[in-house]
Amino acid sequence: MRNETRLVHVGVRRDARTGSVSVPIYQTATYEHPGPGRTTGWDYSRLHNPTREAFEQCVAELEGGFAALAFSSGMAAIAAVLHLFRPGDHLVVTEDLYGHTWRVLHELFQHLGLRFTLADTSDVEAVRRALRPETRALLVESPTNPLLRVADLDALAALCRERRLWLAVDSTLFTPLLQRPLERGAHLVIHSASKYLAGHNDVVAGVVVADTPALADELGTIRTITGGVLGPHDAWLAARGLKTLHLRLERAQANALTLAHWLAAHPAVEEVHYPGLPGHPAHERCRRQALGFGALLSFRVREPERTERVLARLNLILFAESFGGVESLITHPATTTHKEMPASLRDRLGIDTRLLRLSVGIEAVEDLVADLEQALEGPSTIDVEEARKRALSTAFPGLPPASNPVAAAPPSGWTLRPFPSATT
Ligand SMILES: Cc1ncc(COP(=O)(O)O)c(C=O)c1O
Repeated sequence: MRNETRLVHVGVRRDARTGSVSVPIYQTATYEHPGPGRTTGWDYSRLHNPTREAFEQCVAELEGGFAALAFSSGMAAIAAVLHLFRPGDHLVVTEDLYGHTWRVLHELFQHLGLRFTLADTSDVEAVRRALRPETRALLVESPTNPLLRVADLDALAALCRERRLWLAVDSTLFTPLLQRPLERGAHLVIHSASKYLAGHNDVVAGVVVADTPALADELGTIRTITGGVLGPHDAWLAARGLKTLHLRLERAQANALTLAHWLAAHPAVEEVHYPGLPGHPAHERCRRQALGFGALLSFRVREPERTERVLARLNLILFAESFGGVESLITHPATTTHKEMPASLRDRLGIDTRLLRLSVGIEAVEDLVADLEQALEGPSTIDVEEARKRALSTAFPGLPPASNPVAAAPPSGWTLRPFPSATT
């Protein structure tokens, strides 16, 4: 089965009693036992919930993993992965990663005895130099938010095999349709499902996919005892959103390619970070290891005063955190998503006051260009048709839009138990 079909059919045919096409929302905390020492297999929703499992199974299959575990947020998913380690363990971590991932490392797990070294994980030699005898894992965000740096996943996986390390990849920006880290040798994949997987800016959710039964069990135990599970209603929203991931992503990515070319030719814009642009350092790497370039980009305006003016003038594109939803959103990482990072680190990385991050949605690209044009107080040197032409000529075969050759995923190892019916 191809992934497009798998996505559309998430949760379908799960309720034998009624034949409900949409997976029911099992809004229950607990389940009645048939008798002492006997169970239907469903005991308490912190452990298992049928709606959540429908979402989890689909994500596990998309990633080609053994099992997926859904959490109440992407941060809960990341925290669960960090709970796999013990005091004294050392991790090498992407230096320009999401601000709250930086926070959870430095404000919480550091106090619990974990040790971290930040490194540019798009440079495998920099990662090698950061390793210590007590290093246990690489925690890599790729592409990174907001600078869109891309790690060489094959090279990092080879390093992990050589040094017997775990490789965990936060693959939120690319989704399993564009990048499948487990196939390249990673052990764990993390998503903030609040972004593209759910896709409608209406739910906060996270998911971790494990490549082995042992890792899945260990993470399942961590989730059971720490309790950061995804509730049934949010799981249903995430599963419902997942059904259209392929269509949303194709459209958003086609829009992002066009906007990236348009912004790159705009006199008020100094630089655009988007791997779909041929000059971007990660362009060739994405062609090699991914099936696209995603729909998130960031750009730096030339004059510092312009940042606030752009945010104030935009009418259609909303100034809001998060990304990956159908509505286009723009944010100012230095004062929002990355404000807790030390200013010195932000400055070194280039997350400065002139940097804006744009999550490109699925609107008509002409409307997005018109909004950006009035917000930037002038036109680009190319029009939207020329930007679209450039985008199409630089996209790699199969993209965009309709014929993205998404590979079929192997079935996951964790088979769904039959859902409760009137006779069980
Ligand atoms: C790359 C990345 N990972 C993880 C997270 C955290 O996810 P959540 O907001 O669902 O907790 C985010 C949030 O923006 C993110 O951008």
